[in-house]
Amino acid sequence: MAGPEAGRRHLLDVDGLDDRDLAWLVRRTRALAAGAPAAALDRTVINLFFEPSTRTRVSFELAARRLGMRVVNVELERSSSAKGESLEDTAATLAAMGADALIIRHPETGRCHRLAEALSVDLGLLNAGDGSGHHPSQALLDVATLEAGGVALAGARIAIIGDIVRSRVARSDVSAFRRRGAAEIRLAGPPDWLPETVPSGVRRTDNLIEAVTDADVVVMLRIQHERMDHRAWPDAAGYHADWGLRPEHLELARPGCRVLHPGPINRGVEISDAVADGPQSLILDQVRMGVHARMAIFEWLFAADRSAAPG
Ligand code: CP
Repeated sequence: MAGPEAGRRHLLDVDGLDDRDLAWLVRRTRALAAGAPAAALDRTVINLFFEPSTRTRVSFELAARRLGMRVVNVELERSSSAKGESLEDTAATLAAMGADALIIRHPETGRCHRLAEALSVDLGLLNAGDGSGHHPSQALLDVATLEAGGVALAGARIAIIGDIVRSRVARSDVSAFRRRGAAEIRLAGPPDWLPETVPSGVRRTDNLIEAVTDADVVVMLRIQHERMDHRAWPDAAGYHADWGLRPEHLELARPGCRVLHPGPINRGVEISDAVADGPQSLILDQVRMGVHARMAIFEWLFAADRSAAPG
């Protein structure tokens, strides 16, 4: 397997990956998931999570450990960022201690991109989710999960349903699914939760039935309460009645339609128990694939070490 070019790099969004690197990352994720030996990387990475996370933070840590890397989790509420230190100064400080990369989740949209522009030290940046911006590692693991689950993304019809406008997962998935050849992406949700403009091959609908009919894949999204004026929160039971994915909806989709959800899921709100735990759900496959995707991302990030990697 040909590897990417060496050199310092960041993973800020899906669009920042060229076709070769995107293809390599998906292929490598699947190979690692199938048991390919991993690289050994003598590197130090630091998790800086300014927002809660279970899947992303833990899987980046597990991925780092599986590659033999040193990983530090900074407790931000007990760090000097609580005393007003800027993210730029924190990054420079951690680089001075020998960090090779920072994995950053931040509530501010574009914060990781702005740090990358300001960075004056040799440090890789991995965007682990920025506000309503991007979540590129989630999109990579979603593509790998679907393809490993037998879904051919080329020509697929994909419905992404819920709080679209505030979702960094939706934005990154749309980019990745389009790049993998999806025929049609349907963004569905309450009218106020849909973006004003969409790229070609993407359409908007405020009709759940229309979105799921003949779909090959349905991606459900959590309501992003943390990015919403609480007065605008919908009532959970009402939302489930209008927008919750239930078994009767999957009967309208293509046979074998697969269901994704980036998690955390809110059962009985955007998804019913029967769908979340049902045979068409790939939710836990996504979680498993997340560790392999993040291993592949570290191998890609530290490509100079790829002489130690297989294939
Ligand atoms: N999918 C995802 O980003 O989950 P966490 O918030 O638990 O990391």
